[in-house]
Amino acid sequence: MPRRRPMVGWFEPRVLSHSAYLIAIANVFGRHSDTRLIEALASQPQNEFDYSNAPGDFWFDYVADTGDGWNPTYAIADALARPELEVVEPDGATVKTQPGRVLVFGGDEVYPYPTRAEYETRTETPYELAFAGRARPDVFAIPGNHDWYDSLIAFSRTFCRPERGFASCRTQQTRSYFALKLPANWWLFAIDLQLGADLDEPQVQYFKKVAARLDESSRIIACVPEPRWILEDAYPKYESYAEDTSRQFLEDEVLHRKVSVFLTGDLHFYKRHENAQGVQKITSGGGGAFLHPTHAPVTHTLRDGFVQRAVYPDEATSRRLSWRNLEFPFRNAKFMWLPAFLYAMSAWLASASLEAADIIDLPTALSRSINASVRDPLNGMWLVGIIGAFIFFTDTHARWWRILGGAGHAIAHLATAFFVGWLALLATVKLLHMSFGSVVQLLTSGLITFVLGGLVGAFIMGLYLLVSIRFFGRHSNEAFSSLRIQDFKQWLRLKIDANGALTIYSIALDKVPRRWRAAERNGEKTMEANDPRATAPRLIDRVTIRP
Ligand SMILES: [Fe+2]
Repeated sequence: MPRRRPMVGWFEPRVLSHSAYLIAIANVFGRHSDTRLIEALASQPQNEFDYSNAPGDFWFDYVADTGDGWNPTYAIADALARPELEVVEPDGATVKTQPGRVLVFGGDEVYPYPTRAEYETRTETPYELAFAGRARPDVFAIPGNHDWYDSLIAFSRTFCRPERGFASCRTQQTRSYFALKLPANWWLFAIDLQLGADLDEPQVQYFKKVAARLDESSRIIACVPEPRWILEDAYPKYESYAEDTSRQFLEDEVLHRKVSVFLTGDLHFYKRHENAQGVQKITSGGGGAFLHPTHAPVTHTLRDGFVQRAVYPDEATSRRLSWRNLEFPFRNAKFMWLPAFLYAMSAWLASASLEAADIIDLPTALSRSINASVRDPLNGMWLVGIIGAFIFFTDTHARWWRILGGAGHAIAHLATAFFVGWLALLATVKLLHMSFGSVVQLLTSGLITFVLGGLVGAFIMGLYLLVSIRFFGRHSNEAFSSLRIQDFKQWLRLKIDANGALTIYSIALDKVPRRWRAAERNGEKTMEANDPRATAPRLIDRVTIRP
């Protein structure tokens, strides 16, 4: 039986601290020691991979943001591995789709951070079992930000060692980027932008060399690690997203032509944007990771003039799901350790200045404590430190929200911590008749504050996220990673037909199975769904680009 991992708990103190540490390291060292350079120098020269002579219709699959919990990752892997998958077109006609000859992973192949073991249990094993007893595609992958957090070491071992393969599928790339020559003069360029930085020189040289083989009728699909078109629109003042420079560079300097279709993941939903010329910008990050909201930020018309043509799940559903933040403590149980500790410490410091007579009356107790925090340096530094930390860790894209939201959030917690601590004091002295200031009384009220503070503090956290996204459109990432939603998953199935038309099908699973059983298929061990509540794959969008 494979190890079936639950969805990543993004608010667990262990995950929070380790993620912060890795992001800091990756930002400091990742940009200075560029693994792509080392890889390029060490590896054999890489050419484009040629599938242009494949007979008949050419099918391939694109899936991004995989390798979170078992249920959604395996559900998508199993759906895309099926030998025949029928979907219903908007006009009611049934289409028989075929599993891809090639499978492209579009980035963020594993969560929360990349190690050999995590790639294996969260991504490779599900795909190994999904392909058991079935046809296996050739696999290609580009890294997303999560693959970069160890400077690409585990990613390179997983996807860039052709002698090893991936999930018993053939791999060929030796670098973190690649180009595919597809039938009917379609080309797929998959680029690695590191952590939003830029294209390194060997990568530019590689793509220039491949681009030299393009001609007038060549058409381009570009796989990129993040939807800059959405980010630059949502965060126009944020320098890193200010302009889609990598797209300009790719089109103007490397390819010397326009890209017809952009594919990306990074945001875990499906949105398709289109311009008047029919260029497509598709965000398809439903391969397994927790759902992101589709209603915030609003992306109906983007700065680049592209208009939203399809969205999944719809905005009303997304808005409704955000209310689940009211269940924050129960969805993120381990998070409670953090406010528990914070509340107990704050109450301890505040109570040090109180006399037995002060505690009966709440206003007196409050004014005494505020007084003490101004007079006592340790007390004061604790308060300033907490407010500062909240401001620092608040959504970084808008400064006003960082200061207002961060400080407001911190003060809400501090006020509640005081109130919980005061209640605990009162309960021990008045209700349990302990003598004020005794060791037993202090330890008991500390314990009460710890337990109650954990629960209430986590609830306030959820409330803060709900208010942020509901009324200010902020914290779209945190307000949904907290929900750990397994459902609403999707991937792209693409077809190039004999006439050179490219059709892109977006196929979704509204509800993924929660229960599985071991099974056998053509003599190979696998797992199959055993959950009547799960829904069948269905077509949510389709677009055709004709020559
Ligand atoms: Fe992601």
